[in-house]
Amino acid sequence: MIKGVVLAGGKGTRLWPVTKVAGKHFLPVGDKPIIYYPILTLKKAGVKDILIVCGPEHTEQYVRLLGSGEEFGVNLYYTIQVEPVGIAHGLGLAKSFSDGKKVALILGDNIFGDEFSKAFADFDRKDRGAAVVLKRVPDPHRFGVAKFNGRKVERVIEKPKRPPSDLAVTGLYLYDNRVFDVIKNLKPSARGEYEITDVNNYYINEGTMDFIRAKKFWIDAGTFESLHRANLLVRKHHYSK
Ligand code: TTP
Repeated sequence: MIKGVVLAGGKGTRLWPVTKVAGKHFLPVGDKPIIYYPILTLKKAGVKDILIVCGPEHTEQYVRLLGSGEEFGVNLYYTIQVEPVGIAHGLGLAKSFSDGKKVALILGDNIFGDEFSKAFADFDRKDRGAAVVLKRVPDPHRFGVAKFNGRKVERVIEKPKRPPSDLAVTGLYLYDNRVFDVIKNLKPSARGEYEITDVNNYYINEGTMDFIRAKKFWIDAGTFESLHRANLLVRKHHYSK
């Protein structure tokens, strides 16, 4: 059974000054706080145990909002990332929670229209190292982008000036439990963060990375513009539990 991790720390600088006082993941999209969407994505994919990684300033609010997870029909657990030093670092905090199992990582501001229950069941069954969800986007230079060699992805390039494809790496990833060793050996990037792209490139180089295509809609609600678009998309697609 795959364990779930929702990353809900970070600084949210692109939503300042709102995020000087309010956590990004509590802002509304449709009729729900943003954080509900990644939890629902994991739940709909069949994940039962989910760890919420919070920044220290909002831990109590997360517990008050989400509680035990009963409302969602999942078991929620909480941990604190004292400093937001990267997505891979946040995932690293889930080592003991993962209990030797495979893990699904989702970024707390990512909203997906697709359901991933089949993809998760396949990954759970197969002996593959990792899988990332790709989505065709009009503005790939904003994301990690998959570079193909024929049908094979040979690399993920972070925010490329000249994107080698229009397939962005979204904020939903599946890993085997070796990911915690990969993270332990990471060095911080030029911007001082432990990068999930480095983790993904490790599995690509090893030849054990799979790719899942999102077909419906995907958005990260991390800027004023994308927060607005997220509201329009959720309404247009009648997103429901
Ligand atoms: P980002 O959007 O990359 O970072 P951020 O939320 O700090 O926002 P900004 O770039 O505007 O300053 O983060 C993606 C998601 O991952 C978001 O939901 C927050 C989460 N996150 C963590 O939990 N810990 C971290 O160390 C980082 C970098 C992000």
